[in-house]
Amino acid sequence: MAKKLFVKTYGCQMNVYDSARMADVLAPLGYAMTDGPEDADMVILNTCHIREKAAEKTFSELGRWRAHKQDKGGDMIIAVAGCVAQAEGEEILRRAPFVDIVLGPQTYHRLPEMVAKATRAADLNGKGGAVLDTEFPLEPKFDFLPEARADGAAAFLSVQEGCDKFCTFCVVPYTRGAEYSRPQAAIMDEARKLVEQGVVEITLLGQNVNAWHGDGGRGFGALIRELAGIDGLARIRYTTSHPRDMDDDLIAVHGEVEKLMPFLHLPVQSGSDRILDAMNRKHDRATYLRLVERLKAARPDLALSSDFIVGFPGESDADFADTMALVREVGFVNTYSFKYSSRPGTPAAMMPDQVEEAVKDSRLAELQTLLWDQTRAFNQTCVGRTMAVLLDRPGRRPGQLVGRSPYMQAVHVDDADGLLGRVAEVRVTAVHPNSLAAELVDVERKRA
Ligand code: SAH
Ligand code: SF4
Ligand code: F3S
Repeated sequence: MAKKLFVKTYGCQMNVYDSARMADVLAPLGYAMTDGPEDADMVILNTCHIREKAAEKTFSELGRWRAHKQDKGGDMIIAVAGCVAQAEGEEILRRAPFVDIVLGPQTYHRLPEMVAKATRAADLNGKGGAVLDTEFPLEPKFDFLPEARADGAAAFLSVQEGCDKFCTFCVVPYTRGAEYSRPQAAIMDEARKLVEQGVVEITLLGQNVNAWHGDGGRGFGALIRELAGIDGLARIRYTTSHPRDMDDDLIAVHGEVEKLMPFLHLPVQSGSDRILDAMNRKHDRATYLRLVERLKAARPDLALSSDFIVGFPGESDADFADTMALVREVGFVNTYSFKYSSRPGTPAAMMPDQVEEAVKDSRLAELQTLLWDQTRAFNQTCVGRTMAVLLDRPGRRPGQLVGRSPYMQAVHVDDADGLLGRVAEVRVTAVHPNSLAAELVDVERKRA
């Protein structure tokens, strides 16, 4: 009989990819996905450690799962995966002793063994103890994962992992480990298999995705050109990139490869050189602005997104004003902005001049107002325009489908029956707070 698996995911797209792969790893053991933890035989919490709030969610969620486990008379395997597991594995087992398995982001190919051990421990009335595996094994997990199963027309494909940049605020180099690039052949193989399963859009993932490098010094731009040659693959995206790794070839690829979507998430964090230096970002304001200029020269309709941190230790009103000025100068859409969150063990946590919470709050509000205005203004310019949308999800209304524009906007399209999983030409008719409304152009031709 099939066993039921429930996976809950916090954090970035890498975690979303990892969650899907953990389900792939467990499928041969008879685990099929279910929608909630209540009736599951196994539950996995895939956690994020990036900010304090994200990490706290782990323990509150686990508290709720403990109750489900008790309701089932203890007959439920609880696993904690991801970046909190990597950073605080022992602490999790101490604070939540009902957890059976703790595993890091680099060991989930070993889940079958861990499940076997946890089951044996349960047979011993828990006396076998919990399983903890947060190593950084020498063998990369990708070599041991089963084939990826596609879930819809858009897919993530992890090509690079880890980070050697050590920004002073960030836990990722500690939770994900050193930078690693998957071999090109394995990436091409996974991409082709996804396309065979009906995938038309692939988003290449990595904590520093554009730091990817292949044999013979091949760079990330070359990988994108190669992927663009796959018939049936209509769209390519990538995230998250680091300004430092944006080389000449990759910039050129934005102008030359039609399948590469005109949207780029390029985190800047701050507009102040003093703060960028304290953050150890390895780029300054001028370098970032020059990069944006070159990218837009290569691809004039490129829309840019970014990440921002306000209230980094020592950030003055003048530093924050530099961030606001940079935002005005560049113009962003669909951004993410955060209050600096002190992370244990990172250099910035030890820096003097930590900024008061109230100051962070007001700076964040001011920045988000500006960013939101920019997103809204951009969305408004899209009304009346025709664009290609990948319709990959059913909408709320009958006959309605939802998809992504080339610029990552969510687009709702009515009377779109039969077009699920297809790229359709649509004309944008209205802007809603978080999405666009559009109608099909030339319906008959598109359905043919
Ligand atoms: N690799 C990516 C980002 C990974 S984390 C990059 O280099 O940009 C995603 C975002 O979380 C970061 O871009 C940053 O804006 C934010 N972030 C990371 N650590 C943080 C912290 N300690 N406090 C607040 N925001 C943080
Ligand atoms: Fe974190 Fe910086 Fe690495 Fe991005 S580049 S993952 S922000 S350390
Ligand atoms: Fe969070 Fe780990 Fe991603 S800390 S943002 S889940 S790499």
